[in-house]
Amino acid sequence: MKKWYAVIGDPISHSLSPYMHDHWFEKHGIDASYIPVHVEPKQLEQALRSMKLLGASGFNITLPHKQAAIPLLDELDETARIMNAVNTVALENGRYRGFNTDGDGFVRSLLSYPVDKDRALLVIGAGGAARGIVFALSRAGFTDITITNRTFRRAQELADETGSKAIVMADAEAHLSEFATIVQTTSVGLTEEALPLSLTHLGSGSVVADIIYNPLETPFLKEAKAKGCLVLNGVGMFVNQGAIAFEKWTGIRPDTEEMIQLITEKLGGNYVNR
Ligand code: ATR
Repeated sequence: MKKWYAVIGDPISHSLSPYMHDHWFEKHGIDASYIPVHVEPKQLEQALRSMKLLGASGFNITLPHKQAAIPLLDELDETARIMNAVNTVALENGRYRGFNTDGDGFVRSLLSYPVDKDRALLVIGAGGAARGIVFALSRAGFTDITITNRTFRRAQELADETGSKAIVMADAEAHLSEFATIVQTTSVGLTEEALPLSLTHLGSGSVVADIIYNPLETPFLKEAKAKGCLVLNGVGMFVNQGAIAFEKWTGIRPDTEEMIQLITEKLGGNYVNR
């Protein structure tokens, strides 16, 4: 019987997940389809019950439901518990189990670049996205993580929880050249021409990542590139979080590099093979 999967969110019409998963299903000869479902917050509980009733084999959860869905699922994986947010649900023995593949998706994307896990890494931001990423970086064996955030207290709390260091923005700016890897997790650059921190002291040898993928090149990445750094945008994280979900559903590891190219072109960019 044909299987079906979905992504639920509000809004949902611009999601690239249906394109990505349908492409992979087709490529691997899997008789399944993936549909976007618009669910408003007040309908979430009813929607999740309906998913089970109608036999969804799995689904993704996007904004604004990633936290609210938690008590409505049957089981929670460690990744979702740590982040207090779910982005992927898989049907296991008739029960819906929630995962969070965002942090690991980011790390997989980062690891396709020449990064050294033992050299200093700076995370800018201490919100939900940063949380998933810092935990995933630690799990992956990064040993020297420093967090900076506009609201220092949040950076300190996340650092305490993950055995990392926290520094105020001004110190991060002054010591930027000491970080081999820099990861931008805030929403700055999404809608405005602004930087989360000054890049004046950025050296040319760092790998600089932004988790934003639309625009493909934030002002932050543009400036880092102009300074000679190797930059990566959030397309790789988006594709890899989807690939990890796909693996949970099908057991198949899809071609992420091809998808990064397709999504980049869909967003009007030019794919550069490294
Ligand atoms: P997300 O789940 O996307 O991480 P969040 O939990 O609301 O969203 O966190 C947003 C992050 O972006 C925070 O680190 C936030 O800094 P504060 O903790 O000081 O709020 C950061 N952020 C948002 N707007 C910012 C701005 N204009 N300048 C600097 N940091 C900003």
